[in-house]
Amino acid sequence: MFLTCRGLSAAALLLLLSCLSYAAGAELADKLRDDSELSQFYSLLEQNPVANSTLALRSCTIFVPTNEAFQRHTGTTHVLYHITTAAFNKDQLPNSVSSDMEGNPPLFITKNRNGDIFVNNARIIPSLSVELTNREGKRQVMHIIDEVLDPLTTLSTAQVQITNPDALEFMQKADLLNIGESRLRTYRNQVLMAKKESLFQAAGAHTFLIPIDDGFKVATRSSLVDAKVIDGHVIPNTVIFTAASRHDDPKTSAAFEDLLKVTVSFFKQKDGKMYFKSNTLVGDAKHAEGVVLAEIVKANIPVKNGVVHLIQRPLMIIDSTVTQFLQEDSKNGALRKFYEAIMDNGGAVLDDINNLSEVTILAPSNEAWNATSINNILRDRKKMIEILNMHIIKDRLNVEKIRQKNANLIAQVPTLNNHTFLYFNVQGEGADAHITVEGGGVNATVVQPDVAQTNGFVHIIDRVLGVPHTTVLGKLESDPMMSDTYKMGQFSNFNDQLNNTQRRFTYFVPRDKGWQKTELDSPSAHKKLFMRDFAYHSKAILERHLAIADRVFTMSDLVKMSQQTDNVVLPTFRDSLQIRVDEEAGHLHDEYASHEWTGYVITWNYKKINVYRPDVECTNGIIHVIDYPLLEEKDVVVSGGSYLTESSICITLANLIMITVAKFLN
Ligand SMILES: *[C@@H]1O[C@H](CO)[C@@H](O)[C@H](O)[C@H]1NC(C)=O
Ligand SMILES: *[C@@H]1O[C@H](CO)[C@@H](O)[C@H](O)[C@H]1NC(C)=O
Ligand SMILES: *[C@@H]1O[C@H](CO)[C@@H](O)[C@H](O)[C@H]1NC(C)=O
Ligand SMILES: *[C@@H]1O[C@H](CO)[C@@H](O)[C@H](O)[C@H]1NC(C)=O
Ligand SMILES: *[C@@H]1O[C@H](CO)[C@@H](O)[C@H](O)[C@H]1NC(C)=O
Ligand SMILES: *[C@@H]1O[C@H](CO)[C@@H](O)[C@H](O)[C@H]1NC(C)=O
Repeated sequence: MFLTCRGLSAAALLLLLSCLSYAAGAELADKLRDDSELSQFYSLLEQNPVANSTLALRSCTIFVPTNEAFQRHTGTTHVLYHITTAAFNKDQLPNSVSSDMEGNPPLFITKNRNGDIFVNNARIIPSLSVELTNREGKRQVMHIIDEVLDPLTTLSTAQVQITNPDALEFMQKADLLNIGESRLRTYRNQVLMAKKESLFQAAGAHTFLIPIDDGFKVATRSSLVDAKVIDGHVIPNTVIFTAASRHDDPKTSAAFEDLLKVTVSFFKQKDGKMYFKSNTLVGDAKHAEGVVLAEIVKANIPVKNGVVHLIQRPLMIIDSTVTQFLQEDSKNGALRKFYEAIMDNGGAVLDDINNLSEVTILAPSNEAWNATSINNILRDRKKMIEILNMHIIKDRLNVEKIRQKNANLIAQVPTLNNHTFLYFNVQGEGADAHITVEGGGVNATVVQPDVAQTNGFVHIIDRVLGVPHTTVLGKLESDPMMSDTYKMGQFSNFNDQLNNTQRRFTYFVPRDKGWQKTELDSPSAHKKLFMRDFAYHSKAILERHLAIADRVFTMSDLVKMSQQTDNVVLPTFRDSLQIRVDEEAGHLHDEYASHEWTGYVITWNYKKINVYRPDVECTNGIIHVIDYPLLEEKDVVVSGGSYLTESSICITLANLIMITVAKFLN
């Protein structure tokens, strides 16, 4: 018993020691040598006489990259850049420390919300830090990091050494520095012309975004780089290293005042590409409002007063049309696949976009095109053109305008594809706004709103519209307009079948407003339809709305069929549904929208019912959202012999025609 306890406490002590990692008289060098995961750095350290003697004689903090980090690293490793000659444990690390490299360039420390600590772009691996006092009585700290630290260095071909330049000197001497092929001459000239040198010399720790010469191929673009635009490329008093910073976290740029407000944020795509974006929240005559994206060409270049990122094109400047933007972006950009889809289908869609004086595009991201459901459609050119047109709006529509349009409702907007409307829903405010758009059965999220062009906006979305990815049941379940039909189908067990992917359904779904109208017409009947006791009855009514066949019927199919035979007969579970569908033109005016409209009208049982949203495609069928349920007189006879009041449901033919005409003339 006693032995066990002693054994335990010894183990606990050992554990405690290794946890605290504090041991007087021990040597950091021994710790390093003994850890096989750190051997690569150790061998470099040993060979460097300055580092070696620092370790023996001085107080210091050493940032030690793991062997794994070395596997990902190319080029020379600068050992002294990993050492600072004062001991800082994690709590003591200040915002920047001077490295021991020639010229003492600083290392920048970022402590983020998760409690992670970064040295430049490298993360300190928690719980592996070691703190001790060596034989000479010097306090020393070792932090293990997941990336080799890369200082800014001079090209080996240069005649002079450039040590620890600030952002201005960096720009001036960029041609002599190890930063790859990019040239920065155009932007540098604009900075000099605008006399903005002091912005780049300011002491402290700032983020500088510098567009490379490639970004100025459009001849007039450089002349648009004025003092304000240059301010918009600097984030004062914040260093953004890409691994260390929160994505999509807008920071105020140096251009943030009463009359011009520009924020800048950084984000990374799933494919690994990184971007900065400017958002001009308040613009002026020379600086239009909206978002501009620029891919990062070279990230995380440390300088004396902060960090530099080279970007593909200038931010804030909006000087291309939507078409030019797509073309410019086409090689490698965020919308490459959208552009390819247009070109693979003859490119005519691009001409159409080009011909519009005002245009808004919902552009699916490259990832969106990866969905397997799209493969089935890619070769169907007619379908593809319809789908592409579904993403184009003949209007200049940014989120602010959509918000005004919808004011707590879902905004309905026509597209270039006749009969397809987009429905927008904006939830939340400002940077936290969550914007969804529904089109052709697909509910997509806007991942990047308001990318501004001279003639409109591009919103990047996460799904291709019009390409179904959910069953009829999945759609009913999630669509805010169909919730009543969904509920009724749930309690009457009608819905179960709608997830069956072996079937092809054509479902005429009364929208919530439609059921509400029956409530106005006959409150008691409406109530019964939604009561469990009458589930059998409700189920029978829903059955009438659902055609089950070996194919789906789109609205244009039904129009064509109606032109051939007067009445189209569609098979349903019990018997059949007889309807006629016509295309009618008019003016739509309701709680969602007011615009010219070419719509479909169903005639059923002498009643005319508008099709509110045709062709909502699902993986196992198609939904047509209709304005009123297919209810007839005998439906009013519910158990107990009570009638839905005759006056309401039994609308005479004359009545209906009048209603329809009134609606169109509205
Ligand atoms: C590094 O320092 C140790 C003692 O601190 C010494 O034994 C060794 O020779 C030194 N190595 C070099 C390469 O200077
Ligand atoms: C659209 O533009 C193309 C050339 O870009 C032109 O050939 C075509 O006639 C235009 N179409 C319309 C409808 O304006
Ligand atoms: C698309 O899928 C391919 C292979 O499935 C993958 O290599 C590629 O990274 C994906 N692209 C995007 C943008 O997700
Ligand atoms: C779309 O509708 C307009 C107006 O009703 C018509 O002129 C045009 O031909 C239609 N386009 C297609 C492709 O059906
Ligand atoms: C998309 O789906 C979500 C979740 O179901 C819903 O809140 C949102 O309103 C839908 N958007 C549109 C435009 O229908
Ligand atoms: C419908 O089927 C899908 C898979 O095909 C499944 O993930 C989903 O949970 C089903 N939904 C219901 C309500 O059963």
